[in-house]
Amino acid sequence: MTALAAISVFSLNAVAASAGPQAEVLHWWTSGGEAKSVAVLQQQFAGRGGAWTDMPVAGGGGDAAMTALRARVLAGNAPTAVQLKGPAIQEWYEEGVLADISSVAEAQHWADVLPASIAGHMKCDGHWCAAPVNVHRVDWIWANADILKQNGIEMPTTWDEFNAAADKLKAAGITPLAHGGQSWQDATVFETVVLGLGGAEFYKKALVDLDHDALTSDTMKAVFDQMRKLRGDVDANFSGRDWNLATAMVMNGEAAFQIMGDWAKGEFLAAGKEPGKDFLCRSTPGNGYLYNVDSFAMFNVEGDDKKAGQDLLAELIVGPSFQETFNLNKGSIPVRSDVSLDKFDSCAKTSAADMASSSADGSLLPSYAHGMALRGAQAGAITDVVTAHFNSDMSSDEAVQMLADAVANSM
Ligand code: BGC
Repeated sequence: MTALAAISVFSLNAVAASAGPQAEVLHWWTSGGEAKSVAVLQQQFAGRGGAWTDMPVAGGGGDAAMTALRARVLAGNAPTAVQLKGPAIQEWYEEGVLADISSVAEAQHWADVLPASIAGHMKCDGHWCAAPVNVHRVDWIWANADILKQNGIEMPTTWDEFNAAADKLKAAGITPLAHGGQSWQDATVFETVVLGLGGAEFYKKALVDLDHDALTSDTMKAVFDQMRKLRGDVDANFSGRDWNLATAMVMNGEAAFQIMGDWAKGEFLAAGKEPGKDFLCRSTPGNGYLYNVDSFAMFNVEGDDKKAGQDLLAELIVGPSFQETFNLNKGSIPVRSDVSLDKFDSCAKTSAADMASSSADGSLLPSYAHGMALRGAQAGAITDVVTAHFNSDMSSDEAVQMLADAVANSM
């Protein structure tokens, strides 16, 4: 081949490559288990000729990612696809910046394979504006199996049992609770206590309907009492610690328990740990199920290559093959009702069974701490109080008053 011919073949290839689907994807999946999971999407996207530009923004729970997103949109340069959840999808839709992905959703029959409650979060004014990835359960306790065995402790089924186990562990010189003092982690623990001590109806009144009586009730005071107890169960270095480092403490035998959503299971699995053998899972004490559905919204962008990238991403994300492989890594369960759970572990099977039963009895509830229940301003107001209480000697009486005031001011 002459040099000239080689150059023109090269440039033809370059043109072909740049005309393929393109996506710049903003997400916060940077821990071991998370990175392994998002790699599944990158591989499938590349396998269909897509060019992926990664925009990871580290920070569990996604607060930093959301700040980065706002800056990009304000600068008039939105990413193609963004990890976005719950009411935040509607908030961005109202700003007029989300793309309509109904053509893909309809061609792929999403309405037939997604539970109606989840499909509702993915729609904006009747059309599809986000693609759901998974169902994470938030209300889980993870435990180091050896530590529990050596100390004659069973997985707690009530908060009293949890407290008794924690006292026993402390007396044996073991940190009962691995926790990272970041506000979203405080909120994660808090909402499981609200559900556990108050029950599903109370959770809904307090953290979904923001009912003043529920927020200032004796039950809510008992929740803050329990948070105070838990504050005494964490080690001295908890402040600012990332959630996956807290999970590692349980893995390495530096602490007995962690209260965290099942993305923590993704960390155990990525480290080669086995459920039932190395670590144990059980829902936090109480009845109900706090769901947290990850999803991707597509932003309005120019260019057929980017639009093709959005369509391809949406198709892959809800596709059965991605749903299985991704969720096996991520610790969550597939959002599609027609994906077999045969390859999933016992924690995932429990999650799916509990989701079905809680959906039937009305205790399937959106996680406030993970952006499924409330708009950003309200959720933020609650979390500020939860964190302020956890990191001070504020009384439960003061906390409920502050909670009610903060919620009222956020409306
Ligand atoms: C997300 C998970 C993620 C976790 C920790 C949650 O809000 O839904 O996908 O693994 O935060 O970053």
